[in-house]
Amino acid sequence: MTEPRILLVDDDPFVTRSLAGILGREGFQVATASDGLEAAAAVRDRPFEVVIADVNLPKLDGVSLLREIRRGDSATAVVLVTGFGTVEAAVSAMREGAFDFLAKPLVDDVVLLTVKRAIESRQLRRENETLRARLRMPAGASRIVGSDPRMQRILETIEAVAPTRATVLLTGESGTGKTVLAREVHRRSPRWSKAFVEVNCGALPETLLESELFGHARGSFTGAVKDRPGKFEAAEGGTIFLDEIATASAALQVKLLRVLQDRVVERIGEARPRRVDVRVLLATNRDLGEEVRSGRFREDLFYRIQVVTIDVPPLRERPGDVPILAEGFLERFSEENERKVRGFTREAMEALVRHTWPGNVRELENVMERAVVLCRGRSIGVEDLPTSLTTGGAPVEEAGSEVLPLKVALEGPERRLIENALTRNGGNRQKTAAMLGVNRTTLFNKMRKYGLLHRREGAGR
Ligand SMILES: Nc1ncnc2c1ncn2[C@@H]1O[C@H](COP(=O)(O)OP(=O)(O)O)[C@@H](O)[C@H]1O
Ligand SMILES: [Mg+2]
Repeated sequence: MTEPRILLVDDDPFVTRSLAGILGREGFQVATASDGLEAAAAVRDRPFEVVIADVNLPKLDGVSLLREIRRGDSATAVVLVTGFGTVEAAVSAMREGAFDFLAKPLVDDVVLLTVKRAIESRQLRRENETLRARLRMPAGASRIVGSDPRMQRILETIEAVAPTRATVLLTGESGTGKTVLAREVHRRSPRWSKAFVEVNCGALPETLLESELFGHARGSFTGAVKDRPGKFEAAEGGTIFLDEIATASAALQVKLLRVLQDRVVERIGEARPRRVDVRVLLATNRDLGEEVRSGRFREDLFYRIQVVTIDVPPLRERPGDVPILAEGFLERFSEENERKVRGFTREAMEALVRHTWPGNVRELENVMERAVVLCRGRSIGVEDLPTSLTTGGAPVEEAGSEVLPLKVALEGPERRLIENALTRNGGNRQKTAAMLGVNRTTLFNKMRKYGLLHRREGAGR
């Protein structure tokens, strides 16, 4: 674990400097801000264990800062510092969730003690949280990013349905983010502190899966040596996430329909229905409608589970998300590997955006992890990417089939370069010319040569 991070907020540099000295000597990582807005931005940027803020602050006062931090749903402990005449404000701030308040003039030992107490209580709270919500988030869970309008709409839908108990079906290719989105539904629901239980229906043979989900009574089959509750019961009060639902057998489909309709489960070998309060989320990478038409999936179950359907688009249909996802992964993996990789060369970023990502976000994640480990410089270059990305895409030279004059052979790649640059600049020729390092007349002539003049502006192909 790294040292706890503390943010000191005061418009008096003398105060922040002397406190920073004391806390720094105790081994804390200390940052400072001189007004409330700066502090709020810093907290949004990265988590702090403790924020010590004066009540009287320029731009955004201490109490509003406290509210802002609380709204961010963070576990940061906020300690307010009161001067003459602000004690009342601090008392009301306690009611809004401040950890404590300190009166000026500050006494070093008291400050230290308060900080240590705050960190302790925060750790305790975090431990409780992890205990209660064991599987709430995977270790090192990433924040969900997506600037693509379709992803934005998906996040809005999630926000709207999360507080309800509605069944949600997530569809989309493997690696598009169905599992992280399912977790997000749970995380934003009132059930967040209860279990999130994930079951991959494709990973177990039919009979095992049934007992896994519904549990069994002792002696109900060979090997059933004692009573065992199933995952539905384990998810009581929380959420169960059934992945690869299209693989469920006909018998299992009947049982699932029953749970969804009546919210009861029956352990195998036991004729006693048990009530369960569980929210059900499901995912599939197949076209369930098609499975219904071909008779492999029950129509009544299909209608039950597609109350809310979220169709997660493949990464190749949202190339705009590639740079921000890549940057997010870069940050995460450089931190994890203690590398100081800062960004990408332009060629590398172009290769990432051009790639069609059959493995979707998961593939991008893997490519980035590998790149960070391989990277020798300060930014990721094409040499750090797998060759499939840098030589692939559209085959440049049809290997050895025919030798073309250089000038002709280069036309294909040139055309693609120009098209890509146009797409990336939304059809803006001035920007495109600048990006390609040619003047506008040259660009115009080449566009005419390649029949790109009547290309619709902003038409991302
Ligand atoms: N929008 C996103 N933002 C950040 N990480 C993402 C996003 N979508 C997917 N990932 C990451 O990509 C990987 C694959 O996502 P996952 O949810 O397991 O895909 P699926 O369940 O559709 O196969 C995971 O490691 C996940 O954290
Ligand atoms: Mg998944």
